[in-house]
Amino acid sequence: MRIDILTLFPNMVKGPLKESILKRAQEKGLVKINVLDIRSFTHNKHRTADDAPYGGGAGMVLKPEPIFEAVEFIESKVPRKVATLPRGRQGPKSKVKVILMSPQGKRFDQGMAKRMAKERHLIFICGHYEGIDERIKRVVTDEISIGDYVLTGGELASLVVIDALVRLIPGVLGKEESIIRDSFYSGLLDHPHYTRPEEYRGMRVPKILLSGDHKRIASWRRKEILRRTLKRRPDLLEEIKLSNEDKRLIKEIKGE
Ligand code: ADE
Repeated sequence: MRIDILTLFPNMVKGPLKESILKRAQEKGLVKINVLDIRSFTHNKHRTADDAPYGGGAGMVLKPEPIFEAVEFIESKVPRKVATLPRGRQGPKSKVKVILMSPQGKRFDQGMAKRMAKERHLIFICGHYEGIDERIKRVVTDEISIGDYVLTGGELASLVVIDALVRLIPGVLGKEESIIRDSFYSGLLDHPHYTRPEEYRGMRVPKILLSGDHKRIASWRRKEILRRTLKRRPDLLEEIKLSNEDKRLIKEIKGE
């Protein structure tokens, strides 16, 4: 996969790309991430990428020209042909997605991350200041928000999306890590975890976790998953199919 990030603040995104899983995914050649400064696509001496809004008002608006030119530049660098994959294997989608990060976008979630992990090429446009010229939307295929709050720009938001999708690209996580990832994302909240010491400042690890009885431990964990989800995010329980055992555990929790 190829990812391009268009930003007025390249240093804001470069650091996190050099750490942990994102770094490893690039080293393994599973994703190539480029950070482009929107100002390099301006033509005047002051490298102006924004201007005052027509109609008046406070703040500055991101100009359309550097964005159009940057997207055209990136597209000119990318080979159009997709390698043919063996039959039965779903290949990456061939069209480039141009994603505008903005609080007005569709709310990002794990389902979107999964779909995006199958793309071949993603271009992220980080909006900044008070707004962007509406004509930029002509090159945009998707507008994404990471939540109902306003950041100073799309940089941190694009990193959130990139982090969430890159770890879903096959091969990015090791076998063990993938198992943890898949069990972690069941659509419900996670159960509590403990490690040594067995007792810390009077707080004890639940006895069952020390019992070595894997069946009972699995049942305890499932119950804690359901307990937490029921308490903090009951809406998530509406989204998944509960087994008869889940229903029994929920009844038990409610009766406690
Ligand atoms: N830019 C500013 N706020 C944002 C948000 N919540 N999501 C995505 N991009 C943003």
